[in-house]
Amino acid sequence: MRMYDLIERKKRGQRLEGEEIRQIIEGYCKKEIPDYQMSALLMAIWFNGMDEKELTDLTYAMAESGDTLDLSGIEGKKVDKHSTGGVGDKTTLIVAPIAAACGLKVAKMSGRGLGHTGGTIDKLESIPGYRTTIPREEFIRNVNVSGLSVIGQSGELAPADKLIYALRDATATVDSIPLIASSIMSKKLAAGADCIVLDVKTGSGAFMKTEEEAFELARTMIKIGENAGRKMAALITDMDTPLGRAVGNSLEVIEAVEVLKGEGPQDLLEICLELSAKMLELAGLGDEEECRAKAREAVGSGKAFEKLVEMVSLQGGDTEVIKNTQLFKKAEYVYPVYAGKDGYILKMDAEKIGEAAMMLGAGRKTKEDKIDMSAGIILAGKTGDKVAEGEEIAYMYTNITDPDIVSDAEKCLRSAYIYADEKPEKKPLIYKKI
Ligand code: URA
Repeated sequence: MRMYDLIERKKRGQRLEGEEIRQIIEGYCKKEIPDYQMSALLMAIWFNGMDEKELTDLTYAMAESGDTLDLSGIEGKKVDKHSTGGVGDKTTLIVAPIAAACGLKVAKMSGRGLGHTGGTIDKLESIPGYRTTIPREEFIRNVNVSGLSVIGQSGELAPADKLIYALRDATATVDSIPLIASSIMSKKLAAGADCIVLDVKTGSGAFMKTEEEAFELARTMIKIGENAGRKMAALITDMDTPLGRAVGNSLEVIEAVEVLKGEGPQDLLEICLELSAKMLELAGLGDEEECRAKAREAVGSGKAFEKLVEMVSLQGGDTEVIKNTQLFKKAEYVYPVYAGKDGYILKMDAEKIGEAAMMLGAGRKTKEDKIDMSAGIILAGKTGDKVAEGEEIAYMYTNITDPDIVSDAEKCLRSAYIYADEKPEKKPLIYKKI
């Protein structure tokens, strides 16, 4: 195999064979293929795409480049969910306990936030003592005992994806559906669940800016998963507006607890019930209606909340802060942000809100940045609400004392809001179910 010839073929829109793809991934991991040749191949894929067989081969090659999680020690149906990421997306903290309360097993590896989007592992680490890195045996034991465990993604899971993702980031080849689909699915296949529900976000705060792109990405990932013998489903959900009212790590954990206690925002609850119902349905616990009723009952009865407490306890976290969220450490300063004019909130740009939260300390610009667990934003007004000029629409939580940074964050946050004279039509939260 000459890498030059493979690049040439892909550049001309011809397909690559499974063995060739496997050798490329192996060669790149062993540093036998240099970055410049891999970059050229990625760009050729960006332009010419991949067919279903190539996609499956690429995903398998990346999944097999490192450890695969052996979940055979866990009894029962193993379910997983994956969100393509967004702002205020704390669904895993709600959906995993609901699924566990309904008898499923959730052995989940999650990621950290970067840029304007948050990550589940950062959110969990805002719970004092919660260990996101535990030995494999303890992870399996925790799932068998409580039905769920959420930990950080090990560097040994699909290491080829880690290397290729960094190269894509530097070569403007991130936004390619075959590359995103194989990247996500390589980690999901390596993580071993039988049933996988995908939450593919679309809108300003998401990777996929249009519904059509999100649909295409979801269909591609479903095909890869089904070819690998997994049960797959996807929801295409809105990420034009942040999910719920809280953006920022401990603020989002508090909101997740509120939802599990039946007190949280309706949009968040609705998406979480749909995602968990899909997990139950894939696992064979009934039809859509029955599964939605089971998910609702898990919240209403308090069983899902108990599952969250159980998981936090098993991972060494302080359960008192979960039972009484007033005990979470608060940010030193809380600044209100006011509406710029009278009218209805027409749009709240999720990406800008995520950026403002990052400026306040809630996120990282680079992987090395440290985050402030108590920083973030609470959105008082949401799309469709009527507001008067000068009314409070959001609160910024921060420990930053530099007034210029706080003022830039406020400007960024205010610029996220667009107002209209007429009440806007309510947009759906869930565009499609696949
Ligand atoms: N998330 C991933 O894991 N990979 C991508 O390529 C994009 C988002």
